[in-house]
Amino acid sequence: MTVSELEDTPNRVLTAREAGVITVGNELKWDATEPSRGQFTFTGGDRIWAGAVAAGQRVRGHTLVWHNQTPQWVQDLPADQLRQAMLDHIREVAGHYRGKVFAWDVVNEAFEENGSRRQSFWQQKLGDGYLAEAFRAARAADPDAKLYYNDYNIDGLGAKSDAVYELVRSFKQQGVPIDGVGLQGHLLLGGVPASLQQNLQRFADLGVDVAITELDVRMTLPADSTKLATQASDYGAVARSCLAVPRCVGITTWALSDKHSWIPSVFPGQGAALPFDEAFAPKPAYQALVTAFS
Ligand code: G3I
Repeated sequence: MTVSELEDTPNRVLTAREAGVITVGNELKWDATEPSRGQFTFTGGDRIWAGAVAAGQRVRGHTLVWHNQTPQWVQDLPADQLRQAMLDHIREVAGHYRGKVFAWDVVNEAFEENGSRRQSFWQQKLGDGYLAEAFRAARAADPDAKLYYNDYNIDGLGAKSDAVYELVRSFKQQGVPIDGVGLQGHLLLGGVPASLQQNLQRFADLGVDVAITELDVRMTLPADSTKLATQASDYGAVARSCLAVPRCVGITTWALSDKHSWIPSVFPGQGAALPFDEAFAPKPAYQALVTAFS
């Protein structure tokens, strides 16, 4: 949910009806919450939180430490100041929402496809240890929030999800606080990994929750009935995999309606990725979710 999605009344009504949990789409990212050093603004996040409360929804916080949507002033800091800025940011933002959000994506997208650490400014200046520092700071700021590591292309088994698995295993071994792994689930039509359920289960077996946090299934436009049927079976397969793993605690789509999807602007010619079309009519994917959940 973003402010513009909230202001779109039919979208707000639809989301209130269909979703028990929302994720704040952009308004809790660093560029929104601390545009200049020490100047914190929670206007957008507070609006979305209030909207969720009004709709009886719980809220996932997204995200405290990421390489995107982070202001240049952060990226330009020398290492010692960058570390302090990260700790201050987590303390203030997670502290503001203490007791209000039930989960945080503490660190987002810290790995490359081959499983090595992403060479972001975080990694280059602070080295491997910044992840553990971020999670410890988040626990201190909001002891009751579930702390997640969140990433894309870790839905199935593979080098990248192996690296996240190893991160979680080492955190557990060292006593670094982590409660969950978010598998974003930005999928291609027909591309649900066959190993999704096995992958969810292996994370759960480490003693963390798992969740599908940003699900969408994109296709080459225009949509047609064949593609929409494939998409429905994809959504159904994701839902059944999650339901088969007791510690898979939720499925969140990245917006509900194609009207508000990020896909067409980033992947020109692709879209129609969500369970409701641009006019808020349910698609076969929605029926597949209903069937899986009932
Ligand atoms: O706020 C500015 C606005 O002032 C300006 O006029 C406008 C012109 O481009 O840009 C607006 O910022 C945009 C922002 O969304 C808010 O709409 C950015 O350009 C745009 O890049 C940004 O895109 C967001 C993207 O993350 C950025 O990385 C998407 O909305 C958001 O859905 C997307 O979400 C990410 C998750 O956080 C992490 N996982 C992947 C997912 C999809 O990319």
